[in-house]
Amino acid sequence: MSDTSTNTASLLSHLGPLASRFAIAWIDSCASTNSSLMERMPGDDGRAHVLVADRQTAGRGRRGRQWQSWPEGSLTFSLLWRFAAGTPAPAGLSLAAGLAVARTLERIGVSGVQLKWPNDVLVNGEKLVGILVELQPARDRSLAAVIGIGINISLPPGAHVEHHAGVTDLARALESPPPSRPALLAHLLAELQQLFDLYAVAGFTALKSAWEQRNAFAELPVRISGEHAAVDGICRGVDDDGALLLDTADGIQRILAGDVSLRPLGGESA
Ligand code: BTN
Repeated sequence: MSDTSTNTASLLSHLGPLASRFAIAWIDSCASTNSSLMERMPGDDGRAHVLVADRQTAGRGRRGRQWQSWPEGSLTFSLLWRFAAGTPAPAGLSLAAGLAVARTLERIGVSGVQLKWPNDVLVNGEKLVGILVELQPARDRSLAAVIGIGINISLPPGAHVEHHAGVTDLARALESPPPSRPALLAHLLAELQQLFDLYAVAGFTALKSAWEQRNAFAELPVRISGEHAAVDGICRGVDDDGALLLDTADGIQRILAGDVSLRPLGGESA
């Protein structure tokens, strides 16, 4: 058996009875698991499709950035989840995905897990997981969402990571050795399916307080940049759609896109 088929078998066995809800493809390499699923979307057979790649040659991050990963040192996968017509507005989906990852990490023993809007997962202020959500609405108003997740499990010594100062890995975040990639993925898929099932019936409202409990920047001065001119304010949490609530000199603004960074009180952005 190749490593990918060993990994698939191990993942299915860790999933147990949940295995029937997922169609798994674990491959050696592709440009980007998100791009592969978006370009060749599998037909709807009632299961959630999961594409895992040991290596991505052109991994993509949010806002057109590159995503770096290392075979064995990272877990990179995308999940295709279909929502029926009439599902609540998709804006909060990306936050729901971040919350599912945060809860998985907590369950395996990571402490100090926080969420940076919309969905970066931080441990002690450093980024451990990145999530890229891409949506494809259909004519019948159903929605296909591709949720791409990249987790740093154990960065190789000397790995060159852009903005390395703000990056961490699971090996550092846990005091015990990290679980195998198939075991970790099984935990993640179980949590994702639980929260997405809830999201489909109750929307982000049902998850908002759990998200806010982990908000890295709650009540702190932040700057939103990237979309238009930078906007400064105090982070007042999120609303029922998953928009960030920013308390500015002109009142509360709902932020739907952009990068959030901490801003020292009375100073320039960090
Ligand atoms: C970010 O923090 O900017 C989001 C990073 C998302 C990376 C994952 S890795 C699996 C999937 N495939 C991609 O090309 N990107 C996502």
